[in-house]
Amino acid sequence: MTIAVDLTALRTRALNRLLNHIDGSATDLWPEIAGASAVDFADPIRAELERDRVFATVPFIVAHSSEVAGKHDFVTVELPRNKVILIRQRDGGIKALINSCRHRGAELVSEESGKCRLFSCPYHRWSYDPSGALRTVTLDDTFGEFDRSQYGLVELPVEERHGFIWMIDDPAREIDVAAWLGPEMDAIMASYRIDELVSIDPHTYRRPTNWKIMQDGFLDNYHVKYAHPNTAGKMLHTNHVVLEDFGRSFWFLTARKTLDEYIGHDVVWDDSMEAHTIESCFLGPNTMLLKHATHFELLTFRPVGADPNQSIMQMRIMAPSIEASGLEPEHWRKRWAKNWGLLIAILHDEDFPILDGSQRSMNNLDAGPMLLGRNEIASHLFRRLIDELIGSPQ
Ligand code: FES
Ligand SMILES: [Fe+2]
Repeated sequence: MTIAVDLTALRTRALNRLLNHIDGSATDLWPEIAGASAVDFADPIRAELERDRVFATVPFIVAHSSEVAGKHDFVTVELPRNKVILIRQRDGGIKALINSCRHRGAELVSEESGKCRLFSCPYHRWSYDPSGALRTVTLDDTFGEFDRSQYGLVELPVEERHGFIWMIDDPAREIDVAAWLGPEMDAIMASYRIDELVSIDPHTYRRPTNWKIMQDGFLDNYHVKYAHPNTAGKMLHTNHVVLEDFGRSFWFLTARKTLDEYIGHDVVWDDSMEAHTIESCFLGPNTMLLKHATHFELLTFRPVGADPNQSIMQMRIMAPSIEASGLEPEHWRKRWAKNWGLLIAILHDEDFPILDGSQRSMNNLDAGPMLLGRNEIASHLFRRLIDELIGSPQ
């Protein structure tokens, strides 16, 4: 079921609240200040619970549909529990197959992406169809009899919705992305029409940093002018957030400094406001979607197995294709290469060193309790969701 969300009304309400916040040095607040513990970011037992109770139970985005657009196109992705081949099927559907031969477990595919009509194992050359069915057992007159239908590649739950490919990292689960998002966020995502865009040059980083520290770093509007004084801090306001909580997900609006000219006015949202604000969605458990006037950015964070000190961050830019943009191919490529360059400069030079240092510091055994302020509302909501999933009965 899809409900209508009046996004113009939502944006207008948020925009006026944001202007009041800027005028009054205020922000949306969590009801109370809270304690925080380093152990949540460094403890292997906690990391195991996150692997099994977060990533094995709820849907999260692993790719944009355009990354596997053609028949038998595939990408490989590393999830906390399994390494996976995502492959476009002959009928246009998508399958997620565990990248592990059912004979003796050799890794079938070592490439990051490609096109494949038959997966052929490098060890003893068993082969599998793109659907995962076991097709050939070599020297089968000496191997012995077994039920081949039971030895196809193991499938994981996968669904395409709103232009993205979503998965749950446990074969026993059923996936229902709309139910997970809830009616409000599902309607907002539908309105964005990201399925009509293409993903341009997705970037993957392995970081020596807990995935929640990484995710928090990109939910945080408090650090902007302190950690990015000469870059983002010059353009963006610090510590002014308006947030709509939908339970497992939330929507929020932050401001560019150019919004200041509207302070004191009663403003109705129109598209020109996109130049003065940043609209973001947190898609629990591990994803930020940022809406810009010309494109979207998607940031996802996952742990590496149950290692609390390692994560994988993926960044995507989704924008109109060369054809849809009407730009010359060379111009289109230059434009997005420049955009990536700007994004990476801030992350690499400014965010990553701080967040990596946080992780080193979380491994101090006696550093004392920490605090999460009332103004850090997005981090409270992220923490609420993960704590609920960890504590939830299985
Ligand atoms: S491990 Fe794949 S064919 Fe033997
Ligand atoms: Fe930052």
